[in-house]
Amino acid sequence: MQILVTGGAGFIGSHVVRKLVNTYPEYHIYNLDALTYAGNLENLRDIDQAANYTFLKGDIVDAHYINQIFEKHRFDGVIHLAAESHVDRSITDPLAFVHTNIIGTVNLLNAARDLWKEDSANKRFYHVSTDEVYGSLGAEGLFTETTSYDPNSPYSASKASSDHFVRAYGETYGLPYVLTNCSNNYGPNHFPEKLIPLFINNIINNKALPVYGDGKYTRDWLYVKDHADAIDLVFHKGKNHETYNIGGFNEWQNIDLVKLLCQQMDEKLGRPKSTSEGLISYVTDRPGHDLRYAIDASKINQELGWKPSVTFEEGLALTIDWYLANEEWLNNVTSGDYQAYYEKMYS
Ligand code: NAD
Ligand code: DAU
Repeated sequence: MQILVTGGAGFIGSHVVRKLVNTYPEYHIYNLDALTYAGNLENLRDIDQAANYTFLKGDIVDAHYINQIFEKHRFDGVIHLAAESHVDRSITDPLAFVHTNIIGTVNLLNAARDLWKEDSANKRFYHVSTDEVYGSLGAEGLFTETTSYDPNSPYSASKASSDHFVRAYGETYGLPYVLTNCSNNYGPNHFPEKLIPLFINNIINNKALPVYGDGKYTRDWLYVKDHADAIDLVFHKGKNHETYNIGGFNEWQNIDLVKLLCQQMDEKLGRPKSTSEGLISYVTDRPGHDLRYAIDASKINQELGWKPSVTFEEGLALTIDWYLANEEWLNNVTSGDYQAYYEKMYS
């Protein structure tokens, strides 16, 4: 099997690539990534010399390049994670999200459709998507696979659009696909623009912790390695043309999560109790901020037997330990452009 993973130098993609390279020596894993600000080959240093791994630097928006690599490597499967992934950036630059998330996805779909048109048996296009396409929940209820799409941010609108294209290629051209919509991931290698790694980095550096609005927004958190396991399972065992929701059964209001993070950080850094909580600072809210996401992951649990393997407290402790042990990684990704981004967003 020749497998193309897109976005494999990013947060979730790097865990997926590592899992596939280590679990399937008989497959060849190609990691296609443009190495944007979010892509980092350091994430894969432990496996980048493996015999069954090849890195391809390229942009999914470049249709000519995409067609060339499909022709050359004749992929049997695609696991598509490459995306612009940060909601706040989508508010300042929506077009970047249209290019990568929509046009990039359609380029990959065209290439897969054309390559597999004579024989699509045992071929699979796996599109990795988000629970944000379903919009926002009130205090009650859960997103299921049949919840209507209702995206509120340019990021979620672009992901919703890409999901629709994937389904449309299944219906129109018979493209074999599976699609998953997952909740908020956290864990090692998470770029410190997102809540948990940004706050870990700020606590280490005694900087303010910018909580948007009243901090009562709710997210469902999943440890990234559990997501990578779910992706492996759905890629191999998921039913053709099906969607699966993936979530942690683990809802937290932001402010409660931040307080737990502060407690664990104080203990690990040997700082007096409540030191980090003193850094909490309520700041202007994100425009169009979705109140609550919560996933009903019973379909993947019942059909494929998947469930998260770690509790949130365990996962958070593993995450903090990783950041404290990988200070060089954190320093590298927070130098240069990151400083300018931070100033623009938070000053
Ligand atoms: P990320 O931002 O950490 O990584 C994205 C990767 O894609 C980077 O390596 C980047 O270089 C690459 N990339 C971006 N534009 C590209 C382009 N035009 N061509 C080729 N490569 C490009 O993202 P992530 O958090 O790992 O998310 C991966 C996927 O999972 C995304 O599709 C995202 O929508 C989805 N998702 C993320 C979460 C989450 O909580 N992070 C939850 C559910 C779904
Ligand atoms: O739900 C899945 C989605 O989760 C993924 O599709 C996205 O790619 C991923 O970025 C994530 O989106 P969120 O917007 O939920 O994640 P973020 O870490 O940006 O924010 C989590 C919550 O924390 C959200 O309510 C906004 C809030 N927040 C975030 C930041 C960066 C703050 O209060 N302060 C901050 O500085």
